Formats: sequence, structure tokens, C-alpha cells
Amino acid sequence: MVAAMDISIRKAERSKLQDMNLDNLPFGKYFTDHMLEADYENGEWKNVEIKPYQPLLLNPSVAALHYGQAIFEGIKAYKDKDGNAYIFRPHDNYNRFNISAERMQMPQLPEEIFMEGMKQLVALDKSWIPTKEDHSLYIRPFMFSSDEVIGVRPSDNYKFLIILSPTGPYYNAPMRIYVEEKYVRAVPGGVGFAKAAGNYGAAMYATAQAKKIGYDQVLWTDAFEHKYVQEIGTMNVFFIIGSTAFTPSLEQGTILDGVTRQSSITLLKEMGFAVEEKQLNIDDIIDAYKAGLLYEVFGTGTAATISLIKELRYKDFVMHFDVASWQTAPLLKKWLTDIREGRREDKYNWMLKV
Ligand code: COI
Repeated sequence: MVAAMDISIRKAERSKLQDMNLDNLPFGKYFTDHMLEADYENGEWKNVEIKPYQPLLLNPSVAALHYGQAIFEGIKAYKDKDGNAYIFRPHDNYNRFNISAERMQMPQLPEEIFMEGMKQLVALDKSWIPTKEDHSLYIRPFMFSSDEVIGVRPSDNYKFLIILSPTGPYYNAPMRIYVEEKYVRAVPGGVGFAKAAGNYGAAMYATAQAKKIGYDQVLWTDAFEHKYVQEIGTMNVFFIIGSTAFTPSLEQGTILDGVTRQSSITLLKEMGFAVEEKQLNIDDIIDAYKAGLLYEVFGTGTAATISLIKELRYKDFVMHFDVASWQTAPLLKKWLTDIREGRREDKYNWMLKV
């Protein structure tokens, strides 16, 4: 166990914040003054340090660069109107981090390093939290194998880091989505539920193909029939059909158990929707669209928050949506934002004060 006092802090001599404008930020391009770094060696976590943001010095044989034993998380911090800083549901990300670690044969990370380290880091760089609409401080914890050997086996050594990025919206406008039926993201028994770095790298080719024909992202389908929808790019997906919100279920282990997904399920229920987590066949979604019952389609994610989908294409069939008339996804986004920024009661205890 690493207690709070075991995290050493070395402060940057000069803050880069004075050269920054925290309005209209792109996603994930700028980083704050400090980062947290810890080492796993000889079966224990040690050297937990918050220090100036800086490059890592790595041997070219470092295992993660060759075999991809690497996982990460995405979390956001916000400020309320009085300038208090809060982190949204970080403990859920902590739990998922260790689920990913287990699947990738990596060591478990003690809660104190993740939670207390993150709190102290965010507290130190609190003035970097943007307050502009759709902006926040994106928190990126990650771990990778650091043995200097190119034999294929789990490493004995790992590094854990947290970096912080003041950030604007991930997707700027309502999206056009291509239902993918050639390439696959995840299969039962695979690593789709883990936040493994390779899941994102492996998605890039198919996404680039869809972009070439004008789509922003793909909606992945199952590997066997290419019928059951999974998730979109960096988001989980919801369909409002009649008075029910449908989202793909987790039991196949092929989609990420998103924290924004869970939060959306809770808030949609609070709005009075029935919420069904189940295997969703694209043919049923198309039938609902043809019957005029598919009211809204949106993605949920930490980076993406709530992203409206204005077009969904399956083979040659294109579904168009008049997102300007939607009620539910915009309200969901407003409720989430209001909870995060302290304008709506945090009745589910989602916000952790820094
Ligand atoms: C997140 O929402 O935090 C993600 O994982 C998306 C990220 C890959 C940009």
C-alpha cells in the first residue's frame, strides 16, 4: 500500500499556463505542467512521483513497443462556478483499469496510487481546468510493460503514468456513421471489453476506409453475422426507439463498459425511459426507422460526452435524422454537464472533490 505521503512531488519551475489560452482547445493536444509516474519492479509498485511533464527515456527494446502490453483510461475533471475542482466517477475508471490489467496479464495497480495520485496531480494543476462550454481537463492514466527484452512474454517491470490535457470537444458536430460489416473490432473471448491500446490501433484502418467515403466513424458489428451492433469509434451507442432506450449489452465481452454509458442509463431512467441492454440486430434498428419509431441515435464516451448521430448507413440503406428536433440526447448532455459543473444535484455521488 502506498499512502498519500509516499507520493513525492517535484514542482515545475515555470508554469506553461501563462502561454496558453484555455478557450477553443482541440482534444488532447496540450498537457499541463506535471505528470505522475510510478514503477513496478520486483513485484511491487515504487517510486511514485509527481514531477514536471517531460519525455520518457526508453530503451528501444522496451516490450510494450513490440507486443502492445499497454492499457489506459480516460477521465475528466471540471470546475464549479466557485472554482472548486471535481473529478467525474474516477473510481469506476480505477476498477476498469484493473480489469484491463488482468486481461492483458499486467499487475494490479493499488487504489492509493491511482486515486490519491490523480487527486494530488489534479489539485496541483487545478488552474489548467478550462471552464468554457464543452471543455474540461482530460485525465489520462496509462500503464505499459517496460522490460527491455524482445522475447514474447509478460514483463516483470511496468510503468504507470497519469498525464493531464486541457481539452475541448472530441467530436465537434453531429456525426455520420458507417455500419461496418467487413472488419471487426472484437470477438467473444477477445479483449474488446479492455481499454487496451491495441484496440484503438486496430480500429484505425477500417475507420480510415469509412472516412474516405465521407463517414466520421464506424459502428462495429459482431464478427460472425455482422448483424449485432457493438460500439462506435471511441463511444458506446444508444438508440431511442419509442419510449425505450436500447444499448448493446456487455455480456459478450466485446464492448467497453463505459462510465458515460452507465451514467446515461441512470439518467435516461430518471427521465422516465425504459432502458434495455441487449443484443441489438441492425435489421431491427432499420425496421424501427422505417416504422418511424427510431427517434434518436447517439454515442456516449468520456472524451466524446454525448455525440449526436445524424446519419447511419448500413450497406446501401441510409438513415437520416433531424438532430435539431431531438429532445433526449441534448437533455442527457445538459444533465450530465450540469451535474459535472455543480448546477444539478449530484444525487448519485458521481463527483469526487479534489
Ligand atoms: C475516452 O473517451 O476517454 C476514450 O477512451 C477515447 C479516447 C481514445 C480518446
